[in-house]
Amino acid sequence: MSDTTVTTEQPARTALSDEVARRRTFAIISHPDAGKTTLTEKLLLFGGAINLAGQVKAKGERRNTRSDWMKIERERGISVVTSVMTFEFEGLVFNLLDTPGHEDFSEDTYRTLTAVDSAVMVIDAAKGIEARTRKLFEVCRLRDIPIITFINKMDRESRDTFDLLDEIEKTLALDTTPMTWPVGRGRDFIGTYDVRDGGVRLLEGGGAKTGAAQQIAISELGKLNANLDIGQITDELELVKEACKPFELDAFREGHLTPVYFGSALRNFGVGDLLEGLGRYAPSPRAQESNLRKVDAAEPRMSAFVFKIQANMDPNHRDRIAFARLCSGKLNRGMKAKLVRTGKTMPLSSPQFFFAQDRSVADEAFAGDVVGIPNHGSLRIGDTLTEGEDLTFVGVPSFAPEIVRRVRLTDAMKAKKLKEALQQMSEEGVVQVFRPRDGAPALVGVVGPLQLDVLKARLDAEYSLPVEFEVSEFSLARWISCDDKKKLEAFIASNNSGVADDVDGDPVFLAKNEFYLGYTKERAEGIVFSNVKDVK
Ligand code: G4P
Repeated sequence: MSDTTVTTEQPARTALSDEVARRRTFAIISHPDAGKTTLTEKLLLFGGAINLAGQVKAKGERRNTRSDWMKIERERGISVVTSVMTFEFEGLVFNLLDTPGHEDFSEDTYRTLTAVDSAVMVIDAAKGIEARTRKLFEVCRLRDIPIITFINKMDRESRDTFDLLDEIEKTLALDTTPMTWPVGRGRDFIGTYDVRDGGVRLLEGGGAKTGAAQQIAISELGKLNANLDIGQITDELELVKEACKPFELDAFREGHLTPVYFGSALRNFGVGDLLEGLGRYAPSPRAQESNLRKVDAAEPRMSAFVFKIQANMDPNHRDRIAFARLCSGKLNRGMKAKLVRTGKTMPLSSPQFFFAQDRSVADEAFAGDVVGIPNHGSLRIGDTLTEGEDLTFVGVPSFAPEIVRRVRLTDAMKAKKLKEALQQMSEEGVVQVFRPRDGAPALVGVVGPLQLDVLKARLDAEYSLPVEFEVSEFSLARWISCDDKKKLEAFIASNNSGVADDVDGDPVFLAKNEFYLGYTKERAEGIVFSNVKDVK
């Protein structure tokens, strides 16, 4: 990976800008079963972060069912240790941010995507673009995150390669540039052709880190596998050269073009090419938008935002780990940071790094890195930490819930405790809590039903609060705002029983159904109803 210099536009080279330049912070997006976990394992193997593949998860444990709390718990445990995996390869530092597999936790996934600079889109070669891949891709597009595509499972029967590329181009409106091209299909898949240098990398021995491509004449490939149709391969490669767009770094970085690699995660094939592509083309930490200005990663002063909270990793201590993405500068253990939301100063005495199964104290970290900050509830999702500047990073979203329920406590004496517990849970992003302005009991909102199971089980296990959920008269929630404060106040006054406050005290309109929402909207001129909110 000699030409990594193409990846950054550095002002003056300093130790800090060098550290920033060698970081790649990315996530993998895919539909379940496309091979995200297998690919993650193989990437970690390349980076030497784990010794044995298969440690990232025990397969069955990730597939939880709605009613099985133990499995949810295990899922949490596993997603904790794998929240961020850091590994080094050929002088670069890769931060791979994991996203929950289950779509009920998609909010968590969307928030994690705010903390990456690029993404790898894994596609099952037999299936093409599937529903969840598409949804996650749309989230990446909203944030202009560059995407590298890995077409997986080439060792099995697959769809026509041109068809797959065509589908990406048409359904995602994204140009494609094949960087490699599969030679043979299914059982006769023998390796890939490197479109740039014309070498062929063979499946046999393809797992080796250094498995360099060999210069084999196409006409010779028949000697390796008699079933190969050499004429067809030659035609395909010619078509690739003539018809496919050449790779353009700017188009990729702007999110208009995706380089495509082919391989088999299971057979550890093509993974090295992908990693090389990530190192060579994916951007180093990008400037981040704040409410005041764009913050450049190589600025000397540390800044970070919290995109995920994981609580009670150790049930004996009510500890919370806030996962913060460093946006600029360098974090030193023991330094003091300003929590901009409250204006208070907090010491970063034991920030942590995560390496697959382990965590360790981080003495220093640089822009692009993700550190876990233990705290007892002072940090919330969306919080910004700085060395003093009053800026707030924007873009960590909250999504309007798809399910709204009223929490019923079996022991009415514990109402105060429930209020505290729900506040905690909403700050962690487990559920959203809405407190009606008319004083009625709190409502909880979730995107997927599994979140309700997690809430119930955690309230019971961590707070000894057995609760039930009741269907409420409301089923939809929208954040409301208006440029004219008085207008907003008047709307709230006339809809008091349908307005609640969210965790930040921002007003939310609750509606019985779509019809009622539409009816109200029509009559509330100037009021904006939104189903997404940037966490401030
Ligand atoms: P996910 O995290 O995206 O859900 O996918 P995961 O890696 O768990 O892979 C889903 C299934 O696809 C697994 O099989 C896995 O072994 C298989 N797989 C992944 N990559 C490849 C590949 O390149 N080629 C082939 N042929 N299979 C692949 P499973 O039977 O569901 O689970 P397991 O019992 O084998 O672990």
